[in-house]
Amino acid sequence: MNALELIKSLHLIPHPEGGHFKETYRSHEGVAAEGLPSRFTGKRSLCTAIYYLLQRGERSIFHRIKSDECWHFYAGHPLYIHIIDEDGNYSRVVLGNDYAAGQQFQFIVPANKWFASEPAPAGDFSLAGCSVSPGFDFDDFEIARKAEIIRAFPQHEELLARLCH
Ligand code: GUN
Repeated sequence: MNALELIKSLHLIPHPEGGHFKETYRSHEGVAAEGLPSRFTGKRSLCTAIYYLLQRGERSIFHRIKSDECWHFYAGHPLYIHIIDEDGNYSRVVLGNDYAAGQQFQFIVPANKWFASEPAPAGDFSLAGCSVSPGFDFDDFEIARKAEIIRAFPQHEELLARLCH
């Protein structure tokens, strides 16, 4: 199946960070703010999961969330995940199914780290899954402001300029 067929068949919709997604699971059980670390501002579902698809030329711009996020590779071409930690250290993971070539089937993006993703060069599309616990809430999601993040990490200006709005 190609990307457009998958978007239609899986009922994916545009994501504010880029690409298309569909929430496939949201636990019915939740946890009150008092039971969560203080960075969470309210009640959250215990867990959520999404499909996430990037077509050629699309990218997930730099953003961060308050939970660790588990990425799973499903189909298509490998995907780069770019991560910048608080000290400005950069790392890149290749999520894919060629394990022998160093691609990872699964990768955990640590909570509060800035990260972005894009299909590896020459890829048509990448389909992944992302799960978080406590469950995803847009209150826990922050899109990087380009000028501000470049000021914080000028050594990564080229990457940040390309993968921020
Ligand atoms: N639900 C809506 N957006 C997201 C996201 O970026 N990550 C996860 N895990 N769930 C979401």
